[in-house]
Amino acid sequence: MKKLIYLFCALLVSGLNAYSQTHSLGSPSEKVKLTFTLINGQPTYSLSYKGKPVVEESSLGFKIKDMPDFGSGYSIVTVENSAFNETWQPVWGETKNIENKYNQLLVTLKDNATKPHLLKIVFKIYEDGLGFRYEFPEQENLQHFIIEEELSSFNLNGDHKIFWMPGDFDTNEYNYYTSKISEIEKMAKKRDGAIFTATPIQGAFVQTPLMAKSADGIYMSIHEAALINYPCMDLKFDVGTFNATTTLAPDAVGNKAYMRAPTQTPWRTIVVSDDAREIIASKMILNLNEPSKIKDPSFIKPMKYVGIWLEMHLGISTWDYAGQQSASDAGSDGKMAKKTKHGATNENTKKYIDFAASNGFGGVLVEGWNTGWEDWFGKWKEDVFDLVTPYPDFDVKGLNQYARSKGVGIITHHETSGSATNYERWMDTAYRQMNAYGSNALKSGYVGKIIPRGEYHDGQWMVNHYNRAISKAANYNIMVVAHEPVRPTGLHRTYPNFMAAEAARGQEFNFWSEGNPPEHETILPFTRLMGGPMDYTPGIFKIKKSYYVPGAKEQVHTTLTKQLALYVTLYSPVQMATDLPENYLAKPDAFQFIKDVAVDWDDTKVLLAEPGDYLAIARKAKGTNNWFIGGITDQDSREMIVDFSFLEKGKKYEITIYKDAPTASWDENPEAYVIEKLTVNNKTKLKVNVAKGGGFAISAFPKK
Ligand code: NOJ
Ligand code: CA
Repeated sequence: MKKLIYLFCALLVSGLNAYSQTHSLGSPSEKVKLTFTLINGQPTYSLSYKGKPVVEESSLGFKIKDMPDFGSGYSIVTVENSAFNETWQPVWGETKNIENKYNQLLVTLKDNATKPHLLKIVFKIYEDGLGFRYEFPEQENLQHFIIEEELSSFNLNGDHKIFWMPGDFDTNEYNYYTSKISEIEKMAKKRDGAIFTATPIQGAFVQTPLMAKSADGIYMSIHEAALINYPCMDLKFDVGTFNATTTLAPDAVGNKAYMRAPTQTPWRTIVVSDDAREIIASKMILNLNEPSKIKDPSFIKPMKYVGIWLEMHLGISTWDYAGQQSASDAGSDGKMAKKTKHGATNENTKKYIDFAASNGFGGVLVEGWNTGWEDWFGKWKEDVFDLVTPYPDFDVKGLNQYARSKGVGIITHHETSGSATNYERWMDTAYRQMNAYGSNALKSGYVGKIIPRGEYHDGQWMVNHYNRAISKAANYNIMVVAHEPVRPTGLHRTYPNFMAAEAARGQEFNFWSEGNPPEHETILPFTRLMGGPMDYTPGIFKIKKSYYVPGAKEQVHTTLTKQLALYVTLYSPVQMATDLPENYLAKPDAFQFIKDVAVDWDDTKVLLAEPGDYLAIARKAKGTNNWFIGGITDQDSREMIVDFSFLEKGKKYEITIYKDAPTASWDENPEAYVIEKLTVNNKTKLKVNVAKGGGFAISAFPKK
């Protein structure tokens, strides 16, 4: 690891106001350039990429509650430039090494209030974008304070094409919209009834990560990094000027954030490139997070898992003991399999453990194992779930032992029904029980309106709760996958036991709603995944629900081979083999890819990418010379060319390609596939025809 910090300019001229009002600094190669300007005492910034404006003059700063003169008439106290360069190794990830190289501009400002306040703004300029944050240093006239409004804005100054989700303080499970900025309000009127708890914000509001493409082909992704002790950010567009302003999720009484100096905000991030592939490859958000706080990460193990999960979403079995409750109650056509039996029984769990053990899966997720499910859906009740007491037909101790004896771990499910207060009360006891029985991974869930009542999923209180759950789990050597959380912001660098999150519309919607359109998975990597891995739950082989429920209209909106490709294109260190064991056993040739594919990588090459259209990614499995490639398309069929130049020179590889049959399409014939074996080298360019809503997967092993 190489680390170098140096100051090339640090002056202190407090009171003299000898500073120019404008300061510019480029990324190491000057490709990305930041300009800070104080205009009439107010801080602004702008950003350019290869000489073209990306963000034009945009506001910075705050309104602080009950401090009307906070931020009035700023002057510059100091400006400090520095450079930083290190390479670090993540505990798990898409690449073995991550370069963290940037130039930094740190501006200290003082307002002209009767009792003046200090504010620092830190800009880090990378080759692939900008991160900036505010720091409130320790000072006499600012101790405890409440954020009323953050004034950071992103003046995009063009009616860009954007990939977006409506602004909402409670959910990120919408389908994406693709439109011009000027069309947001018109389109956002169409709300999604399948989302259980939503608090949409009326107007031209969008969520981050927001993906935009300008008319002259510049791609930009706006998000945040290191969301700690602060609410989540949405953006409000002025559709006349295309300026987006920060909107923070409020708390129960309308305040945004409770702060105490010295403190700081999360980073506001803009990843930028004229090559869409570089947006996905960016590690800027991770770099803006603090290094790992986990001293001994040996308990953290990327894995593939199976689970007692899909059967409940299909209505084949239930979470509750009496067999009355199924997610498919929300099915758009009202049709579902007959509710018959509890899913998490000893017998069924053993079946999944055996299946996991004989096919090389590390974990078995079990939902519906604990008491409370009779009561959970939509009651807004505080004490719904007991997170330690199993139902009578689930021997929690014995099943954990059985799993361990077969080299498999049970992934414990902690559904909270949004009652975070109840979870806070159970957390230590529940984690201790997991330790006692040998379960070292959990999946949490927050379906429902939040308790404390009046709080939102995205407010400061819940951000602190989610982070507390992760850091506490780390103390108990437990890995976490969170559903219905605030959207991730790269915190898995600091807490690598935070394996994945949902925080977007997952596969589950395909089983009981209009589902996710074929373009969905081509947008996710440019939006939601910019903040961290997603527990999407890929690998569905039985594409249409009518297989289980005659007449049902629901289906997965991809072909079978696209489901295989998702193991590569939707990066996560935990990936579910989501379908029922019998569906895998019926197609052992296609199942082989899921058994082979890795979840932790030494290298990643984004081969082809255009948001909303297509994507192909190649990844090299950790500690091996084996590559896995996934390619996907939207609703259009297309020819994709895989250039194998990433393979080791002079070596031959045997590849297995899993591709759509010529007659395949996501709607008419989604399960038709062809498997071929070929020998390739780093000169090979392979043409693959991909069906409507289709994809392909390739495994490549060096020849002996
Ligand atoms: C919603 C989650 O996304 C899903 O994975 C889970 O099965 C249900 N909630 C029940 O907790
Ligand atoms: Ca969910």
